[in-house]
Amino acid sequence: MPVSFELSSTASARVRTDVLALPVYAGRVLGPGAEALGAGIADFLAEAGFEGKAGELLALPATDVAAKSVLLIGLGEQDKVTVDGIRLAASTLARRAATHTSFATTLLDAGPDELDRGEVAQAIAEGVILGGYQFLRYKKDAKPSKLRKVTVIRAGRENLQWALERGAVVGEAVAWARDIVNEPAAAKSPAAFAAAAKKLLRGKGVTVEVLSGPQLAAAKLGGLIGVGQGSEQPPRFVKITYSPRGAKGSLAFVGKGVVFDSGGLSLKPPAGMETMKTDMAGGAAVIGAMSTLAELGVEAKVVGYVPMVENMPSGAAIRPGDVLTIRNGKTVEVLNTDAEGRLILADALSMASEAKPDAIVDLATLTGACLVALGDKYAGLMANDDDWRGQVADAAGRASERVWALPLPAEYRKQLESEVADLKNIGTSYGGALTAGLFLQEFVADVPWAHLDIAGPARASADDGYNLRGGTGFGVRTLVELAEGFEAP
Ligand code: BES
Ligand code: MN
Ligand code: ZN
Repeated sequence: MPVSFELSSTASARVRTDVLALPVYAGRVLGPGAEALGAGIADFLAEAGFEGKAGELLALPATDVAAKSVLLIGLGEQDKVTVDGIRLAASTLARRAATHTSFATTLLDAGPDELDRGEVAQAIAEGVILGGYQFLRYKKDAKPSKLRKVTVIRAGRENLQWALERGAVVGEAVAWARDIVNEPAAAKSPAAFAAAAKKLLRGKGVTVEVLSGPQLAAAKLGGLIGVGQGSEQPPRFVKITYSPRGAKGSLAFVGKGVVFDSGGLSLKPPAGMETMKTDMAGGAAVIGAMSTLAELGVEAKVVGYVPMVENMPSGAAIRPGDVLTIRNGKTVEVLNTDAEGRLILADALSMASEAKPDAIVDLATLTGACLVALGDKYAGLMANDDDWRGQVADAAGRASERVWALPLPAEYRKQLESEVADLKNIGTSYGGALTAGLFLQEFVADVPWAHLDIAGPARASADDGYNLRGGTGFGVRTLVELAEGFEAP
């Protein structure tokens, strides 16, 4: 059940709610609304060992307030509070208040003056939804959150309801991406994934086309067909179009949609397969982001391309040494069937390029090498255009998603030379994220293009702030920011 957000200018002591959540900074400096707690509070906090460190919580009895209980939330150093720090605090509150139906907080007024208040309000809503996220479908003893209403108290009367709504729209899109990533592969065949996308996108101001069977061959999607031929579950290709009247610029989003990656005949060892239901996270991020564009009033045209396929090792599977013809006519010798993501993205990037958008960005859980290089919290960012790389990095920064630029070194291109075809699908054992990027670049026509290797951040192996263990929905927020702020490079 969704959470609703409302603004209030009532003094915090008089707000009727289950939990009144008040910020306290490092050194026990009381934040907005905490004056309601009375004079003796500072000594009490010192006695209780509460310091005001970021994320610290302390429940207090509800004396002299209309709320049923009071909760203090630490924010760390007062002058160092950021938008993401507030998103994190809101997420902590959403989890802590999950046994209540409502909470109210003064977090909106808790940051330094230079923070944009619309961004802060949006981050509060996002934090509540992301931190309160649960995936309970397969839990017998599920304890779903009871939280239904969050009241955002602020001193002025400024109307920021729109910003709360934007945060809710974006937060729900990220939660949708998490849900479909967390779903077991058996429950998200390419057909089911495509159907879930259609269902989400109904009434969201976009058109959705799903290609299957002979339509894939007619569209010359040789990479997608080749990867899919080892599975009982046939592939799909989903194209989503958002085309506002008088569009300012045009963008393409491409997402890897491998619903399960066994490696194919180049079979992965068991441990390597454990998380491979996550291999469609790039596609999920694209679909999630597309669902928000009309509601957010994005002015650019955006087309999303998501090839969906299961990589399995049947008797019909593609073999090492087989040659595939990608949509743009280039041939690829498949020496490792586990380097499958680049084969399906090759088709999708070719198709996206043909439409001549002003820029393309793709998201893919593409290489274990990117995890080795950057760890599991940073996405690798590669691009054929400096301006466009900068726009993607800036959008990720505004979204508080971590990306780090990696090169596309022309010197390594010869690693992809094949004995028999135009290219082979693997390089040497070093720099695997980069050779994967170089491979993709071969299928991008003359268009600014950026590639985000999200193999690490698509999943959290342990709870980490508002990213809870499992799918993170990484990329949705960056894509939304990118579409909103888009300027043709
Ligand atoms: N989906 C994997 C990449 C991956 C690995 C994502 C671990 C998340 C966590 C991809 O299809 C893959 O198998 N890549 C191979 C490429 C290699 C065969 C060149 C890899 O990284 O080992
Ligand atoms: Mn693979
Ligand atoms: Zn894969």
